[in-house]
Amino acid sequence: MENKEQILLKYNRPGPRYTSYPPANFFHNKYNNTNLIAHVVESNTIGPENISIYIHIPFCSQRCHFCGCNTTLFESEKVVIRYIDCLIKEIHSVATHINTKDRQVTQIHWGGGTPNSIKHEHIIRVMNEIRSLFTINKNAEIAIECNPAYLDYNEIHFLRDSGFNRISIGIQDFNPKILDCVNRLHSKLPHNELIKIVREAGFTGVNYDFIYGLPGQTVESFNNTMKQAIELSPDRLVTFSYAHVPWVMDEQKNLEKLGLPTPEEKLSMFLSSMEIVANSGYEQIGLDHYAKPTDDLSKALREKQLHRNFQGYCTKETTGQVYGFGCSSITQLWGGFSQNEKSLGKYMQRIETEGLAVERGYSLSFNEQICKEVIDETMCNGIVDFTEIGARFSISGEEVKSIIGYNDEKLLEFVTDGLLTITPKGIDVSKTGMLIVRNIAMAFDPQLNTDGDKYSKTI
Ligand SMILES: C[S@@+](CC[C@H](N)C(=O)[O-])C[C@H]1O[C@@H](n2cnc3c(N)ncnc32)[C@H](O)[C@@H]1O
Ligand code: SF4
Repeated sequence: MENKEQILLKYNRPGPRYTSYPPANFFHNKYNNTNLIAHVVESNTIGPENISIYIHIPFCSQRCHFCGCNTTLFESEKVVIRYIDCLIKEIHSVATHINTKDRQVTQIHWGGGTPNSIKHEHIIRVMNEIRSLFTINKNAEIAIECNPAYLDYNEIHFLRDSGFNRISIGIQDFNPKILDCVNRLHSKLPHNELIKIVREAGFTGVNYDFIYGLPGQTVESFNNTMKQAIELSPDRLVTFSYAHVPWVMDEQKNLEKLGLPTPEEKLSMFLSSMEIVANSGYEQIGLDHYAKPTDDLSKALREKQLHRNFQGYCTKETTGQVYGFGCSSITQLWGGFSQNEKSLGKYMQRIETEGLAVERGYSLSFNEQICKEVIDETMCNGIVDFTEIGARFSISGEEVKSIIGYNDEKLLEFVTDGLLTITPKGIDVSKTGMLIVRNIAMAFDPQLNTDGDKYSKTI
């Protein structure tokens, strides 16, 4: 089977996104602050040695109706100050358990919410605190997610002077009518001016985020947005499929009233935008990420050194074990995952009294660590060598296969459709196969619950 549309429709089944293994719905609230500290201590003796830091800033001044992120409307400067105090206290509580002498920070990522909507003094305070507690590698990637509504010359230079070298700009759509439909503020500067200032300020990486599937968007209008993006030449771009979960995000009901594109229209938007971007010299990373061939992500894909965490795709060289700070942030260590309180109020209250605010998490067993490696390699690099993975755990390739419940028969449909080759070492996913790689990863998940209801469809 060759046709990409046919493949995508055929395999559009409920399944985990495998942003983590096991998926976040396995996290439970018996996991607590004590478990986190045990995993932090353990993380000093188990690889990867690198430290990645995630800082969550939940504040936004206006809520975009499509938004599925953990955000809170800006209430008062007093709340922001209290939150920053808590962030700093939390960083201290965790850092005392990290071997900061022998381990270096190779990645810092600020996400949200809108991290660039808070006052400069708060960003400076947190950055100074990180610098005073950790050693930052000279090649560290220091990234921030920005809403262009707050980006002007001074803001961009301030961020660059504060040490950020990568900027992720949430464009969503260039069409102002679409932005109005979804209650999103417009960019402060015209986009050609904005990217010029960003480049001149010395940012080495520029990402653009887009969403398809919003009210008012058509295949043609989204194609135009993609063509405009390519002219501006960001290093990476992502086309997120709009995730409609009005039972969790009340404001998304506003979009239903305006009329959402049909699933068929959405699929055409995805395929058409993919063709435009991929034919413009960008390499496709996973389903919906694209990078210039010279970008680190493309190089890592070619060298099979791509990695993925809750912050998105990254290279194995840059990313390390991830220590997350702030409400809802997820710490991702070798031994397990730990997520903080999602509610801003509860997070601050617990940090003030306990120093930590773990809401839920998960400790990985030995077998789960092996499944995690197999699923991560499948999802990121599309190649699995069972003997090589076994060697990381001092077991044989056959033992790895037995732990993941490997069975050739589970893969036959993919082989017949030309999506995967079974090799003497393991498996090799084709370029088209990478479009449905979640389905392939599901074949290596011994804990997969096939009733499926709790997962969104794979595409
Ligand atoms: C934390 S937000 C972005 C940062 C910044 N606040 C902004 O709006 O530009 C990260 C990205 O998630 C994506 N996103 C948010 N809600 C989404 C949804 N419901 N479905 C798919 N993608 C979504 C958007 O593309 C957004 O740029
Ligand atoms: S998309 Fe960005 S600015 Fe809009 S509500 Fe979500 S986090 Fe805030």
